[in-house]
Amino acid sequence: MLTSITLIIIPFILSYSLTHSQTLPPPLFNNQLGEWALMQPSIGISAMHMQLLHNDKVIMFDRTDFGQSNLPLSFGRCRMDPNDTALKIDCSAHSALYDVHTNTFRPLMVQTDTWCSSGSVLPNGTLIQTGGYNDGERRVRAFTPCFGEYCDWIELSDALSQRRWYATNQILPDGTLIIIGGRRQFNYEFYPKTSENSLSFVSLNFLGETSDPSENNLYPFVHLLPDGNLFIFANTRSVLFDYKQNHVVKEFPRIPGGDPRNYPSSGSSVLLPLEDDFGFVEAQVIVCGGAPRGSFESATKGNFMRALHTCGRIKVTDSNPNWVMENMPMARAMGDMLILPNGDVVIINGVGEGTAGWERGREPVLTPVIYRPKENDASLRFSVMAPASRARLYHSSAVLLRDGRVLVGGSNPHVFYNFTGVEYPTELSLEAFSPPYLSPVFDLVRPTIRFITSGVLGYRVFSYVTFTVASYESVSDVSVRILAPSFTTHSYGMNQRMVVLKLNGVTRVSREVYYATVVGPSTAEIAPPGYYMLFLVHKDVPSSGLWVQVM
Ligand SMILES: *[C@@H]1O[C@H](CO)[C@@H](O)[C@H](O)[C@H]1NC(C)=O
Ligand SMILES: *[C@@H]1O[C@H](CO)[C@@H](O)[C@H](O)[C@H]1NC(C)=O
Ligand SMILES: *[C@@H]1O[C@H](CO)[C@@H](O)[C@H](O)[C@H]1NC(C)=O
Repeated sequence: MLTSITLIIIPFILSYSLTHSQTLPPPLFNNQLGEWALMQPSIGISAMHMQLLHNDKVIMFDRTDFGQSNLPLSFGRCRMDPNDTALKIDCSAHSALYDVHTNTFRPLMVQTDTWCSSGSVLPNGTLIQTGGYNDGERRVRAFTPCFGEYCDWIELSDALSQRRWYATNQILPDGTLIIIGGRRQFNYEFYPKTSENSLSFVSLNFLGETSDPSENNLYPFVHLLPDGNLFIFANTRSVLFDYKQNHVVKEFPRIPGGDPRNYPSSGSSVLLPLEDDFGFVEAQVIVCGGAPRGSFESATKGNFMRALHTCGRIKVTDSNPNWVMENMPMARAMGDMLILPNGDVVIINGVGEGTAGWERGREPVLTPVIYRPKENDASLRFSVMAPASRARLYHSSAVLLRDGRVLVGGSNPHVFYNFTGVEYPTELSLEAFSPPYLSPVFDLVRPTIRFITSGVLGYRVFSYVTFTVASYESVSDVSVRILAPSFTTHSYGMNQRMVVLKLNGVTRVSREVYYATVVGPSTAEIAPPGYYMLFLVHKDVPSSGLWVQVM
């Protein structure tokens, strides 16, 4: 049964209008290949990890143990850390907060080492960062978004039960987090610890079985599926995993080709958009790129092998699923995969040769590609975009912004910050890629969301999304989607997911004004509670998003 609020209420009455903070400047124009813009020549740190928060600020952090960054801490603060391997007293920042609206940034302060860690945003919007290296390996840190200038990281007294270095997090339907794996950690644990998950950690043999001499199963690809189980991909293997019973429900076929896809081979993966029609919801996973087996050892000896050029796509909800392989336009390892507001997927950053790891990547791939999962003609599924001017190799990252641009930062294949005397200097810059849908040629069909019933999108509750379209022709091909922003690091966007909401019709109010009636997600397995960006898409062209809280 759908919980229906009274349908006769005109959506304008109960409307939640755009506030100042929800208005973004229009992105720069582009052509059919998309367009690049340099946002900041330097933010003083290299953005190894990035997460967009629901106040349109992007939190970024690097590691703490390489010496000084180029961003001083504010208020004359210094970090005293007797356990830091490089500097015991460090007055530079290793984290920053970037404000998308004003294109400005400020330093943040982390206490212990956040190197190669993981994160997830809780349902209330607080980012929980887990693990790292050395004195940070069992730490939990929180960042609660604020509108002032003073909020900062809080190191919680909660400790993880195991070291979590290169682990993956996933938010669960009950709003808690599962933290899976990490180097030589063949187990998982939950955060926060509750009476139901009080065991400090639970073994997961699959992670041990998929570890090899160069590991290749780190930062496993984890996707929460509509049936409440997890899809976990490590090395070449993947399973359907019931984390409540600690039970592998089934193993999927190995990805064809025999080559590893996880760190340090570092392909990437997304759960393709789920279409929530309140019945059976099909789920498809795609894994793209990576490096051939042996590539890491080979790169150590100075021989950089060609990266993988294949993607594998699998309908994990089929009773007998199989991988369908496709060819990307070019080989790529360390590509970041991000779901775009219209349901397409961009693959951005990375290299054509070598792997992840210090000094092990070559031949940066400057051109993003866009993959259209719904295109029937396989030859039209990929498009090559305009090249970036800066190489983004190891320790780079990318996140989607609410206005539809992709923010790209980081790249530091060196142990230290090295700007000269190296082939690929440490990158402290931020760039934004505007996909073709932002081109002014689509202005006539581009929808603009004016109001939505509420900033809260209840499960199975109707909402009205009032929008305008400049063209006087009546609209067709409208969808409303919610997208959970990713915690991106090491070429993988944790917690990223898109749900296409059930559409109960589009009503024209006046020449340019319409409202779409949509129903909130059917279950928390399909859309775990939390902040999502809501987009309205018309003829494949998305609006800017609005933040909604699913609860
Ligand atoms: C440094 O490491 C020691 C030993 O692991 C630990 O007891 C101490 O709390 C650490 N200090 C800080 C500031 O993290
Ligand atoms: C969200 O919940 C966490 C954990 O209970 C808490 O530490 C944090 O302050 C909360 N954030 C907000 C915005 O209320
Ligand atoms: C990189 O930077 C570190 C620390 O500043 C320095 O010791 C090292 O020599 C640099 N490497 C190169 C190749 O310049």
